[in-house]
Parts: sequence; C-alpha cells; structure tokens
Amino acid sequence: PDLLERCRKICAQHGDRPDALIEILHAVQAEYGYLNDDALKGIAHALNISRAEIYGVVTFYHDFRREPPPAHVVKLCRAEACQAVGSEDLAQHAEARLLGHPSIGLEAVYCLGNCALGPAALVDGELKARLTPAAFDTLVEALEA
Ligand code: FES
Repeated sequence: PDLLERCRKICAQHGDRPDALIEILHAVQAEYGYLNDDALKGIAHALNISRAEIYGVVTFYHDFRREPPPAHVVKLCRAEACQAVGSEDLAQHAEARLLGHPSIGLEAVYCLGNCALGPAALVDGELKARLTPAAFDTLVEALEA
C-alpha cells in the first residue's frame, strides 16, 4: 500500500492525536521496518505537528530505525562461558570483517544456552557452535552469496 496513505490511516486510527505520536511511529515501523523521510512527513502532516518535533522524537528513542534493517543478523554471545573460550577475540574479528557491510547486522547477546559449545552465535536465528574466526568468515561468505 501507498506509504503516505497508510501513514494517514494509522494516524486516523489513533484519532490524529499528537500525544499518540510514539504509538503511531511504532505502528508505522512495524509495518515498513523503518521510518523514512516520507513517512515522517506524512505523520507530521496528519498530526499537524512540526517536522522538527517528530525528528526529535525519532532520534531520541533508540527503538526507531531511520534506515532499512539489515538483511541478515548475527548475534554473538558475549557472556561469561563464551568469553572464556574466545568470544571477545571473535567479536573483534567479526566487527572488522563486517565493517562496510550494512546488509549484515552484528549484535551482542548474553547467553544462548549453548555454553558448553562456545563461542556461540545465532545467524539469522540459527544456532552456531564453537565459532572460530575462520568459521565466521565462511558463514559471512555464505550470507553474502
Ligand atoms: Fe555463551 Fe552461554 S555463555 S551460550
């Protein structure tokens, strides 16, 4: 559906109330994945608030995305048991490897319940065990392919 039209509808469902701005932003993001300039313009117009106001809210709350979410997400375990088997070195390696790869997001998680087989990670929701830097690179190559 047309983005502006959907924004208008979502605002109307919230009674076009400026005090419902945060709920409206969440609803639009839930549908489109992020909040681009057109969406913000449309919402500001429907609620009759200034664009400065809406940008202020969006940048203040870390929950709101201004860019499309990455196509893939790698969650590396940074908790104790994985740290003891090298997850910090792996995390540094991963950060360097993924620099300039906006399609792969890197996040930290704290224990995936796979402590005996660390370093552990979730790659697009799939559990990976005993990750080495070399194994990490192989995974990334597969995601990029
Ligand atoms: Fe990493 Fe538990 S500490 S899986």
